[in-house]
Amino acid sequence: MDPHALRQQALGAIASAATLPELDDARVRYLGRKSELKLALREVRDRETGMALNAAREAIESAVDAREKQLARAELDRSIAEDRVDVTLPGTAHPRGHLHLVTQVRREVEDIFLGMGYAIVDGREVETTHYLFDALNMAPNHVTRSPLHTFYVGEDAVLRSETSPSQIHTMESKPPPVYMVSLGRCYRRDTPDTTHYPIFHQVEGLAVDRGITLADLKGTLRTLLRQLFGAEREAKFITHFFPFTEPSLEVLVSCFQCDGDGCAMCRHSGWIEIGGSGMVDPNVLRFVGYDPEEVSGFAFGWGLERMAILRHGLPDIRDLWADDLRFLRQF
Ligand code: DAH
Repeated sequence: MDPHALRQQALGAIASAATLPELDDARVRYLGRKSELKLALREVRDRETGMALNAAREAIESAVDAREKQLARAELDRSIAEDRVDVTLPGTAHPRGHLHLVTQVRREVEDIFLGMGYAIVDGREVETTHYLFDALNMAPNHVTRSPLHTFYVGEDAVLRSETSPSQIHTMESKPPPVYMVSLGRCYRRDTPDTTHYPIFHQVEGLAVDRGITLADLKGTLRTLLRQLFGAEREAKFITHFFPFTEPSLEVLVSCFQCDGDGCAMCRHSGWIEIGGSGMVDPNVLRFVGYDPEEVSGFAFGWGLERMAILRHGLPDIRDLWADDLRFLRQF
């Protein structure tokens, strides 16, 4: 073929290649090893034909280069326009869980006592009647020994109805001094209502050392109350009875709702009951081999659900166990 006609044909094909693969096809067809041009160049005999063919080759090569740049540019423009990702658009947030309200309160109480130098010890949810009753100085006919009150899982095995046995385990494991808290689940045969649930959590506290007095008990529990409920809450201690403390004190705080004036929440007394406490009964100290002439101690046991309810003014303890995310997400 005449070099000029060949060149014209190639330039036409290159110009009409609409995509890079099409252009590549044209390049192979007109410049490839088996193309008419390359075959002709291999066979060339005279200088004139050689020059014409080479000129055609150069023209076709530069046309391919130029068209390639054009198509690449067009491809880039298209992809910028079409595949654009706007990195400034807000992303899709994945929902995050958080700790249950009771766990939050538990951690908070643990932090408060860690700050006062107390150790956190584990207790046992399944106890023997020995630790739950006998070691805690409970009379043989004490009402909580009844299967109507406490869950029995065997002859002498019970689900603990309070965290107090953890006091005994701790004192048995080491000589005084003891400064410990133990938090966990308790079980009672209570019918669920707004303030009762058969499973609940308590924090048990115990301090045994030389010279511990009622003033230490009050000071420590006032600190706990202030940190949990704020400095404006007043605390009041009234006498009570627990088999394992003497004297025993019930701790009250000024009502959250009426601040002491009297309202439905505090049954018009101005005070709300928080939990039990007292000076460890010498019988309990003797039981674990401590000498009540040498050391004395105070103890307390409070409900964590109760703290959560008072803090947030919740109407019903059962909400804490209902697994209703609409409720739980509020805290
Ligand atoms: N164990 C008691 C209860 O469940 C609470 C309690 C009162 C614990 C006085 C104590 C204490 O350690 O000293 O009602």
